[in-house]
Amino acid sequence: MFISNDIKYIGVNDHALDLFEGQYIVPNGMAYNSYAIIDEKIAIMDSVDKNFGEEWLANIENVLGDRQPDYLVVQHMEPDHSANIVSFVEKYPDAKIVASSKAFTMMKNFFGTDYADKQVVVSQGDTLLLGEHTLTFITAPMVHWPEVIMTYDNKDKVLFSADAFGKFGALDVEEDWACEARRYYFGIVGKYGVQVQTVLKKAQNLDIQTICPLHGPVLNDNLEYYINLYDTWSSYKVEEEGVMIAYTSVYGNTKKAVELLADKLRANGAKKVVVNDLAREDMAEVVEDAFRYDKLVLATTTYNADIFPFMREFINHLTERNFQNRTVAFIENGSWAPVAAKVMKEMLSKCKNIEYTDTVVKIVSALNKDSEAQLDKLAYELCGVSDNNGGESKMKYVCDVCGWEYDVEAGSPENGIAPGTAFEDLPEDFVCPLCGVGKEEFSKAD
Ligand code: FEO
Repeated sequence: MFISNDIKYIGVNDHALDLFEGQYIVPNGMAYNSYAIIDEKIAIMDSVDKNFGEEWLANIENVLGDRQPDYLVVQHMEPDHSANIVSFVEKYPDAKIVASSKAFTMMKNFFGTDYADKQVVVSQGDTLLLGEHTLTFITAPMVHWPEVIMTYDNKDKVLFSADAFGKFGALDVEEDWACEARRYYFGIVGKYGVQVQTVLKKAQNLDIQTICPLHGPVLNDNLEYYINLYDTWSSYKVEEEGVMIAYTSVYGNTKKAVELLADKLRANGAKKVVVNDLAREDMAEVVEDAFRYDKLVLATTTYNADIFPFMREFINHLTERNFQNRTVAFIENGSWAPVAAKVMKEMLSKCKNIEYTDTVVKIVSALNKDSEAQLDKLAYELCGVSDNNGGESKMKYVCDVCGWEYDVEAGSPENGIAPGTAFEDLPEDFVCPLCGVGKEEFSKAD
């Protein structure tokens, strides 16, 4: 992988890992990135996971030949990057270690020594001259641990961004960046949006042409795309219009309601509808979706006078990551004393700027006409169209054969269809009053 004439990739791919950080599935493995900056002086940027120490040291030798590194820059002390500091020092005893003071405290805790005779302690704005390259350090506390620094190389205009801009997945697997970067971001750094915003502001005046993160690919084109996504994620803004329905279902009745709601949402023009079964989907994937879209529907059963465990776990994931700025709706199910909606709302009570729908769907054991009508109301509310009994619906449908238009707001009183009747609620034998074709010949108008 080419980064620049002087900056070489010396990281490793891990395809043996079952759970990253003990909890995240990584179907396409993981990369632990490390880089060598080769100038009059040589700096190695971070180490790699403990299982890859020999491979990493061999990578260093391969790119340096007979030369020896002068510095090991430790940007982050989490063991996926720091585990081989001890073996590096054994192999290169003359090299200095460059890190924040908090990182040296952590070295003492992890390794029993803070390498007092090798320390170069750096803080915000400090520089390290390698020759043509000058490294400037940017403190980045809580992105993702308190000791983290990032590093800017002024010659090649490279930002070494520590965990930021990283993703799950090894580098020898081709995959979309955003999906696994979003799952990684909200899983690992999501709580620390304020701190990410602070670092983005510190970096905004740098001329950055390449981002070298500690995980995932080196980014060197269309950097605005990645930086804008990080800005959106860390400021908890909506990334995309859509409704995400997260549910649990014990015997399938809540699932049936969720599937019906999803159909109704689509029929009422929802741009995107995503349905996730919390007992079966990867939890980190569902958390990511909750932060991606603007509307969230939580559907679950009352369970032990509380809510079903997977839903409790899911909401805890959201609240501990400062879930905010979204519309939330509830569907509760209970056979004798439903309390799920109340419990879910209480759990979200500390979240900022949450708008709740007026409609709360209550299912008593299984769907019936009442709860189906509530699903209709909820779909209308989430899609911004009014219900059948009320006022205006914005939806229109056009007969593909003759162009006659069915306007939900107006209905078709001359044909016995009341104003506000949703297209899906038209009788099965409804035909176009102009040319006589059936409902299947109609399309939603733009
Ligand atoms: Fe990749 Fe926070 O460690």
